[in-house]
Amino acid sequence: MPCVLRPCPRPACALCARAAQRSIASAASRSACRRWRVLLRVQIARQRCCAVRVGWVTRQLRGSSYIPLPPAVVLLVSLLILPITLKTFLLLWHKPKKTERFFFDQGLLGPPYRFLLGNLTEMVSLMLAASSKPITPPFSHNILPRVLSFYNHWNKTYGSTFLFWFGPTPRLAVADPELIREIFITKAEFFDRYESHPLIRQLEGEGLVNLSGHQWALHRKLISPVFHIDNLKMLMASVGETMVGILEKVAATAAANGGEGGVEVDVAELYHSMTEEAVTRSTFGRSSFDDGKVVFQLQTKLMAFAAEAFNRVFIPGYRFLPTVRNRIRWKLDREIKEKLLKLVSCRKEAAAAGEAKYLLRQMSSPAAAGISHSDIVEECKTFFFAGKQTTTNLLTWTTVLLAMHPEWQDRAREELRRVCGACDLPSMADLPNLKTLGMIVNETLRLYPPAVATIRRAKADVELGGYRVPRGTEILVPIIAVHHDAGLWGPDAERFNPARFAYGASRAARHPNAFMPFGLGERTCIGRGLAVLEAKMGLAAVLRRFKIRVSSNYVHAPTVLMMLYPQYGAPVIFSRICEDR
Ligand code: HEM
Repeated sequence: MPCVLRPCPRPACALCARAAQRSIASAASRSACRRWRVLLRVQIARQRCCAVRVGWVTRQLRGSSYIPLPPAVVLLVSLLILPITLKTFLLLWHKPKKTERFFFDQGLLGPPYRFLLGNLTEMVSLMLAASSKPITPPFSHNILPRVLSFYNHWNKTYGSTFLFWFGPTPRLAVADPELIREIFITKAEFFDRYESHPLIRQLEGEGLVNLSGHQWALHRKLISPVFHIDNLKMLMASVGETMVGILEKVAATAAANGGEGGVEVDVAELYHSMTEEAVTRSTFGRSSFDDGKVVFQLQTKLMAFAAEAFNRVFIPGYRFLPTVRNRIRWKLDREIKEKLLKLVSCRKEAAAAGEAKYLLRQMSSPAAAGISHSDIVEECKTFFFAGKQTTTNLLTWTTVLLAMHPEWQDRAREELRRVCGACDLPSMADLPNLKTLGMIVNETLRLYPPAVATIRRAKADVELGGYRVPRGTEILVPIIAVHHDAGLWGPDAERFNPARFAYGASRAARHPNAFMPFGLGERTCIGRGLAVLEAKMGLAAVLRRFKIRVSSNYVHAPTVLMMLYPQYGAPVIFSRICEDR
């Protein structure tokens, strides 16, 4: 019979050796023992010896005498730990693997699930590698590999619809417009908006963007009239003037510099005051005022903190710890709420005058019964965040693209001369007639959409383009990937060619829903009309006064920081046009 006894794992254990010798001596003295019994004793002695050593170590650690745990306690602890371990195994391994097989069996492939983190590690390293170098060739519009590198990477291996893992949650990347149409329009009732990360939610506010069900429907109904074109005309009157004020300062600086070479302006900063003006008008019906400006400043600071926290390793519950940074974030959030509450309270009294509709007026109307001050504050937060950053972004990229493509500047300027005549700024009646400018804005939104992707969550089992998608699956719609797809936009998909929008957005690509910078369906962007009007107004004011070209300091490096940003700013040279209009 082979000996099943194993030697003590510590060969140099002197205590074990002595105990073994004692055992052998006592066994030999009785002389009746067989060899295997001796060995058994040796092993028992060694185990006892090791237990003594463990007890000694434990005593040292506890600093008290060694008290063995009663078996009942051991049993209880095991009974508690076992189900937790089992549940963890089921949730973090068995279930994801089962779901993975479920999708793989239907032909939906993707990178394999890894315990707990899913594919997060690969995603982060792909994104970090991509954002560490600028685009090549330097002004290429083929930005997908840099901006959504993980999508670009897996798309090459698994196709445009594939499965990946955001932690233990399955995510389907869907870039086929037919399927996207189902998600947003024909089967929208099966999908919920994705619940944003709490740090983003804190920034966005618990307004329209983050509401659902009945509350969302009520808020959307109340707010929609603010963005009706006739109402926007009233709100927009002062927006152009704000832009003119900003550009006069640029012109003065250019003149002070001698005028010839022009002046370098970071356009990522240029448009802030104009977009703030538009948002405060649509929220409070009044011009930009100091408290409103303070809120924007606080939100910008909070955004920087959120972005920083977002880029760190995610530790569940960390945001609740009173660390220095968390305390600053809480303070900023508190200040934003207090400032907005003050504005809401004092503006509510003055809400009756004037014809224009704006957020505060709509949410104080009799139809808004049951809506509290704090609901209004959250909605203001949403407006301030969603309305400012997105439009500033759009204006930044459009200016950069016009600076890169002077032929389109000339065409837009020519149109402005034709439509607006001698007027400095387009009137509200002129804006819809600025077709070339509209095409330029659309082409910018196609190539550089401020919102690069959006996410939905299946709230029930649903069939999507013939695939069965289980409840709880998240769907990533990579807007930017759809916008750069040569199969939809033709072989020149990476070229800046506004002419493709000559017959309207729905006819610009091979699929009518291939262009979706503002989302699709019932949850489409409520502020799209305002954003496009602002963009046209701001660009018209620039093009009437300046020729623009890219600065030699500009590095073309679009990156995602909640939205699509120029990683190193957007310096553009503004040269005054000296001509009689
Ligand atoms: C270029 C500018 C803008 C872009 C690219 C943009 C983009 C988007 C997108 C893609 C969505 C849909 C998100 C989804 O379906 O998951 C959205 C929703 C929304 N946007 Fe915008 N947006 C812009 C400007 C604005 C402005 C100016 C405002 C308000 C002043 C605004 C307020 C909102 C709100 C409240 C929603 C949520 C609508 C709902 O869920 O009912 N956006 N936006």
